[in-house]
Amino acid sequence: MLVGIDHVGIACFDVDAAIRRYETLFRLELAAYEERPESGVLEAMLRAGPRRAAPWKDTSASYVQLLQPTRDDTALARFLKERGEGIQHIGYAVADLEDALRHLGLRGVRVVPDMPRHGIFANSIAFLEASALGGVLTELVEVGGP
Ligand code: CO
Repeated sequence: MLVGIDHVGIACFDVDAAIRRYETLFRLELAAYEERPESGVLEAMLRAGPRRAAPWKDTSASYVQLLQPTRDDTALARFLKERGEGIQHIGYAVADLEDALRHLGLRGVRVVPDMPRHGIFANSIAFLEASALGGVLTELVEVGGP
């Protein structure tokens, strides 16, 4: 079901400072940078591996996702307030998101309500409840959407 690790989501207070850190220390390439008002986040994706296709088609690339909240009423903002900067979630690539959610739903794993269902690069995404996954907030990503 999982075809790779799409990204690691890292919560930060200052996304621009975090971008500079990853560019300087690891020479990562900034692949996308956008404010997503509907999700209350300023988001950057830095590619951590070779690109083999356009971002919206590339299921082989992995990214570091840097996330700065732009509102206080989001899970990301609460995470930063309670735990400080650090890894907030992991994003796995799946071939078929709806099929994966059906499989997981039958096993009692629920999607977190009020979390985004559309990601960067036109990806379809879903967040799974951390309580079902040993405390790890887990995102599934269907690259390029259905
Ligand atoms: Co993510």
